Amino acid sequence: MHNRPGYRGIVTDQMTFDDQSAPHEAMLSDRAAQALEAVDESALDDIRGLRDDFARFMMPYKFGIDEVSTKLEILRQEFAELHDYNPIEHISSRLKSPESIVQKIVRKGCDPSFDAIRESITDIAGVRVTCSFISDVYRVFELLTTQTDIKVLQVKDYIAEPKPNGYKSLHAIVEIPVFLSGGPVPVIVEIQLRTIAMDFWASLEHKIYYKYDRAVPQELLGGLKDAADDAARLDETMQRLHHEIRGGAERVTTGSILVPPDAALADLHDARSRFGDA
Ligand code: GTP
Ligand code: MG
Repeated sequence: MHNRPGYRGIVTDQMTFDDQSAPHEAMLSDRAAQALEAVDESALDDIRGLRDDFARFMMPYKFGIDEVSTKLEILRQEFAELHDYNPIEHISSRLKSPESIVQKIVRKGCDPSFDAIRESITDIAGVRVTCSFISDVYRVFELLTTQTDIKVLQVKDYIAEPKPNGYKSLHAIVEIPVFLSGGPVPVIVEIQLRTIAMDFWASLEHKIYYKYDRAVPQELLGGLKDAADDAARLDETMQRLHHEIRGGAERVTTGSILVPPDAALADLHDARSRFGDA
């Protein structure tokens, strides 16, 4: 799983984020192989055509991930260079596998046309942002979603309103244009923003969920809820300490290659005052 192509960054709860139905992939391909044996030549041609169409359908999603990741990476670097501070701890992304997409449309009983899949499956492209503090989660969300080429389709704030099991994260479904040779194509990307503590909890919860094949014993569920409460308390404490230490101030980095040496600054200052006189 960790070495699958198409995955970048360290995704801790791979199964949740990447590919919820991965364990059934082998079964599906067995079934698919049998189905392929049973079909006639013309159906086989259709299936071959479908393969090309599927690849063409998937491609913009990969670019959608690239666009959103680049935007986040730019924000991250801007903060690191200019503010000596980094609201983004980690960015990871995943493209849902074609097998998982097919399984999801079959499970949900969706119209299986590509246009309908584009509308109804909104987590084909996924980007996850991990921040140190809750305030940074909202800050990064604002900085990203107010960009003029991003259209926010849906926001689910599981930080303000956690799921009953204790799950917390800020989810946004956005649409972003990807510029292909034929023109711009709007692509839907799911963005999950959370703190390190929320991410730690979600990855453990996810492992337990799959270990027990979705039927987690009651006492473990209770333990998980307690752990979620502990994680939330930790986030609050860290946020408070962070505010006390920094007091909201953000200093400009000194050692950056973008910051000129004092002598160059003095020369620039001098040039400016003389320029005004001329
Ligand atoms: P899906 O159809 O599974 O995508 O869910 P949804 O359409 O109801 O969307 P929701 O925003 O609730 O969840 C989307 C994604 O958030 C999931 O695919 C997971 O990656 C993550 N997520 C949501 N709930 C949980 C949870 O209880 N535990 C963990 N570990 N992850 C969760
Ligand atoms: Mg999902």
